[in-house]
Amino acid sequence: MTGDVAPPGRILLVGIGPGDPAHMTARAREAITEAEVVIGYQTYLKLIPELLEGKTVIGKAMTEELDRVEAAWEAARAGQVVALVSSGDAGVYGMAGPTYEFILQRGWQGGAGEGEVEVIPGASALSTCAALVGAPLTHDFCTISLSDLLTPWPVIARRLDAAGRGDFVTILYNPASKRRRAHIARAQEILLRHRDPDTPVAVVRSAYRERQQIQHLTLEALHEAEPSMLSTVIIGNRSTRFEHGRMVTPRGYTAKYAEGGTPVSGEQRGRSLSLGLEGWPVVLRQWLREQPSPSLEAAAEHFDIPWAEALAAVADDVAEPDTPFMTSRIEVADLPHHLDECRQWPRLRAVVRGPAGTRMVCSVAGAGLRHGGQTLVLGSGGGRVELDWERVAAGWALAGACQHCSLELVDRRGRGLLSLQRIVETPRAG
Ligand SMILES: C[S@@+](CC[C@H](N)C(=O)[O-])C[C@H]1O[C@@H](n2cnc3c(N)ncnc32)[C@H](O)[C@@H]1O
Repeated sequence: MTGDVAPPGRILLVGIGPGDPAHMTARAREAITEAEVVIGYQTYLKLIPELLEGKTVIGKAMTEELDRVEAAWEAARAGQVVALVSSGDAGVYGMAGPTYEFILQRGWQGGAGEGEVEVIPGASALSTCAALVGAPLTHDFCTISLSDLLTPWPVIARRLDAAGRGDFVTILYNPASKRRRAHIARAQEILLRHRDPDTPVAVVRSAYRERQQIQHLTLEALHEAEPSMLSTVIIGNRSTRFEHGRMVTPRGYTAKYAEGGTPVSGEQRGRSLSLGLEGWPVVLRQWLREQPSPSLEAAAEHFDIPWAEALAAVADDVAEPDTPFMTSRIEVADLPHHLDECRQWPRLRAVVRGPAGTRMVCSVAGAGLRHGGQTLVLGSGGGRVELDWERVAAGWALAGACQHCSLELVDRRGRGLLSLQRIVETPRAG
C-alpha cells in the first residue's frame, strides 16, 4: 500500500551498544526514556529492564524484524513516540535499514508533519569487540555478515574473497546460528586462499555482557572455534600480531620511522610514502632498471597491480629515458588505425593472458588480423583468436629492448585482453 497518510508520532531507531549500560550513549538512554512504546528483539530488551518501566513493551523474536517495523509504524501513526531498539548500532545490520525501506514503501517522504525518524548511533560490535581484544582495526578493515537469510552465498563468498585479496582486517558478523554451522568453515577456506594460516583471529562472544568470552586463535584453527549467533570474529591482515595477549594491527609507523623518530632511508616526515600515489611508478621504473633481464609482466606481478597500471607506469610522458620499456596510451577510437599498422607486420605473435597466469601464444601473418563489426579475429579455422571489441577499454603501444614492439589491449578493469607483438625476423648468417 502506498500513499498512506504519514504519522505525526516519531520513530527513534536506537542503538543500545553491546549490552553493558555503561556503553550506551546518553542520547540512546534519553530516547528510550522519552518513548512511550519500546519495540525490540526480546534478548535486547532484557538488557535494559530499568528503562522499560511504565512503557508499552513489544518484544519480538529474532526473525520478526518486519513485524517490529510494522508495529513501530502503527504506533507512530497513532501519534506515539516509539523506540525501536537494536543492539550495537541501529544502522549496522540493525533496524534502521528495514525501517526506512518499510516506511518509504508506504509513501513516507520525510516532510514536516509526516512523523520524524531519528537514527541514534551506538557502539557497534565491530568497535566493542575490537576494544576487548586490543587494537586490531587501526588499519583498513571491512565487515561481512555470514548470514545467508537475505544474501545469496555466492555474493558473500565473493566479498570474502575480495576482503582476503585486499588484505583487509575482516570482521565477520552473524558467523553462525543453530542452523548455520558450516558457514564459518567456508569463510575460513576462502580467506586461506589469500592469507597465511597463522593469521591472528579473535572470536568474541557476548561482548560486555554476562557471558563474555574471548578466544584467540589462528585462521588455520578457525573452524574449531564454534562461534554462536552472539559472536563476532575478527581476522587480522598480513601485519596483525598477537603480542602479550593483545591483537594489534600496526598503522605502519615502524616501517616509516626508525627508533628516535627519524624517517628511514627514502622516506620523509609528513609526506606520502615513496610507494605513495605519486611515488610508486618511480619505484617501479627503478626496480625495472635494476633487473638483469627486465620484464614488465614481472613488474606487474611484483607490485601486484593490473597490467594497465604497469603500462601506465612506464608511459613516455613520465618515464626517464633509460627506462627499459616505454608506452603510450591509445584511445579506443584510434585503435583501428593502429590495428591497420599491425596488419602490415609480416608476422605477429598474439598473446592471450589467462587470469591464473596461463598464456596462450600463437603466431600468425599480420594480414591474418581482421577487425570488423564487434569482433577482432586473428588467424582462421581451428587456431583462431576472437576478441569481443566491446570489452576493449584502451590500448597501449609498448616498445622495449631487442626491438620489442607490441599493441596491448586492456579492459575496463585494467586486465590485459590481448597482446599483439611484432615478430622481428633476424636475417640468417651466411
Ligand atoms: C543482527 S547483527 C546486529 C549488529 C549490531 N547492530 C551492531 O552494530 O553490533 C547481530 C550480530 O552482531 C554481532 N554482535 C552483536 N552484539 C554483540 C556482542 N555483544 N558481542 C559479540 N558480537 C555481537 C554478532 O556477530 C551477531 O551475530
